[in-house]
Amino acid sequence: MAAIAKFLAILAVIALASTAQAADPDQFLDWVVTFQNLPLLGTTQRVIAINNQFPGPTIKTTTNNNLHINVTNRLDEPLLFHWNGIQQRRSSWQDGVSGTNCPILPGQSWQYNFQVKDQIGTFFYYPSINFHKAAGGYGGIQIANRVVIAVPFLPPADDFTLLAGDWQLRDYRSSRSRLDKSQGIGRPNVVLMNGKAPYIAGGSNANFEKFTVESGKIYRFRISNVGTAQSLNVRIQSHKLCVVETEGSYTAKTCFDSLDIHLGQSYSVLVTMDQSPADYYIVASTKFSSGSLNGVAILHYQNSNTAASGTIPAGPDPLDVNFSLNQALSIKWNLTTGAARPNPQGSYHYGQIPITRVIQLSSSSVTLNNQARFAINGQSYLTPDTPLKLADFYNIDGVFTRGSMRTSAVGSPVMETSVLELDYKSFVELVFVNPENEIQSWHLDGMSFWVVGFGFNETWSPSSRSKYNLVDAVSRSTTQVYPRGWTAILFSVDNVGMWNIRSQCLRRQYLGQEGYARVFNPENSTRTETWIPQNVLLCGKAIGKTIPGPRMLGIDEIDF
Ligand SMILES: *[C@@H]1O[C@H](CO)[C@@H](O)[C@H](O)[C@H]1NC(C)=O
Ligand SMILES: *[C@@H]1O[C@H](CO)[C@@H](O)[C@H](O)[C@H]1NC(C)=O
Ligand SMILES: *[C@@H]1O[C@H](CO)[C@@H](O)[C@H](O)[C@H]1NC(C)=O
Ligand SMILES: *[C@@H]1O[C@H](CO)[C@@H](O)[C@H](O)[C@H]1NC(C)=O
Ligand SMILES: *[C@@H]1O[C@H](CO)[C@@H](O)[C@H](O)[C@H]1NC(C)=O
Repeated sequence: MAAIAKFLAILAVIALASTAQAADPDQFLDWVVTFQNLPLLGTTQRVIAINNQFPGPTIKTTTNNNLHINVTNRLDEPLLFHWNGIQQRRSSWQDGVSGTNCPILPGQSWQYNFQVKDQIGTFFYYPSINFHKAAGGYGGIQIANRVVIAVPFLPPADDFTLLAGDWQLRDYRSSRSRLDKSQGIGRPNVVLMNGKAPYIAGGSNANFEKFTVESGKIYRFRISNVGTAQSLNVRIQSHKLCVVETEGSYTAKTCFDSLDIHLGQSYSVLVTMDQSPADYYIVASTKFSSGSLNGVAILHYQNSNTAASGTIPAGPDPLDVNFSLNQALSIKWNLTTGAARPNPQGSYHYGQIPITRVIQLSSSSVTLNNQARFAINGQSYLTPDTPLKLADFYNIDGVFTRGSMRTSAVGSPVMETSVLELDYKSFVELVFVNPENEIQSWHLDGMSFWVVGFGFNETWSPSSRSKYNLVDAVSRSTTQVYPRGWTAILFSVDNVGMWNIRSQCLRRQYLGQEGYARVFNPENSTRTETWIPQNVLLCGKAIGKTIPGPRMLGIDEIDF
């Protein structure tokens, strides 16, 4: 009797578990990826387009939805898409970087299947291999709150995506082969706003980006720096930018005349249309180098007859690091609002969790095999033919060595497929050290982190911890590191998988400034990591391996 009751109870739990999953809506997207020729600044540019659009379509979804994105590669080179800032909870199988996925070959289709589990906010996607990002192929991602969780501000009149980024007029393949030969690629030529060239007063560029608004209303702009090389300062003439969200967490609303957005970062800002009806400049200018380039779009009040004219509004001195650093410190987490979950963000007291691992990753430029490359702690990433994730799953030898990433001292320069071992459920302090004169931007896949401190023109030491913000630092997935400085982050290792750590500067990442963190759960359970996808692509040393059949949540793995 008791045995039957227990059996029925187990059946009931299984039924509940499966209905819970089925209740999260599915969204199906079909993408055909092609090259397109785009006229730009008097030249013809080869860009990567999705369904004939550049930028690609904005993915609009809601927390916990299941996305099914069927990518058809009509380029003549292997392709992968990566979802910048999407955590791929329990499923690095879908992360779309060289260490997790075999590329989609020309003429092939592959369907990504992933859940935007426990996330809200603003992100973007881009093609992650073969230097493709320099040819575009990017697009926005918006994840709305579930209806049961309040947003900490009133619904805006509209929700705009603004993808701003530097661009080089040289074809991406030519830049790529120059880098392969240790030749420089120089500075970008222009800043694009949603793929469009700058507005020019007087009308010599008819194809500029324009946002039409109504007087008195408040709009949300989701701004991402999708460029390859430079930080940007973004501003709207005569209007304030009020930051409310960054890469998946809500910030205390904080208003600025202009906002620094570093490579790979995303912000939501609210803008109130409180000026007289006219057209205004929206500007994104490159920072931390002399000779700023300006991307220019137009904010058009719908009853305006007045073209934007005159000089574009000046931003802060592009070389003023203190401005940037102080602004970054002034953006705080909103502790009282819920986000993907109803409990307040601040109920997670990240500053009180004991740190179980301290890691330092230092950036450098190195020469290896007569090639100019970039490195982390002296290791320049060697990309194997076999994705690390597959090598790990099938126990294939000779692809990578666990724990091979140096975690403190900079050693002599070496090519290495470096992998950091992180214990599941540990809590890490990671200090990005930047001895170079160039600003850096670092990203971690799979987990978001609290950015607790920055230093500029100073060496990190244990006493730097006294400056950490242990209460209301923002949680995000990409952080800048100032020249000759450091940035400290804290994160909880709560996502099993193989996660990319990379410089968001494309030339640096392409030339070795990346590595992987392997988060392993010895319990070996499909509760903490999804099983190998049935449509997984095999390549390298995994060719010919058998794909084991589907494996669902086992009865012994259900929490009672
Ligand atoms: C993906 O798209 C291709 C090309 O249209 C199609 O042949 C394939 O069946 C699609 N795959 C899935 C899983 O829908
Ligand atoms: C930047 O800030 C630091 C620390 O507050 C200060 O020592 C330094 O003089 C400032 N530099 C400039 C150029 O303002
Ligand atoms: C923080 O979130 C709450 C919602 O809980 C909201 O009412 C409040 O305005 C937000 N604070 C700031 C400074 O944005
Ligand atoms: C950086 O630090 C050095 C030595 O502490 C100092 O001489 C120099 O002025 C600083 N540079 C800036 C830009 O603050
Ligand atoms: C994990 O599960 C797989 C598949 O059932 C099995 O082959 C492997 O030996 C298990 N590993 C451990 C450490 O239990």
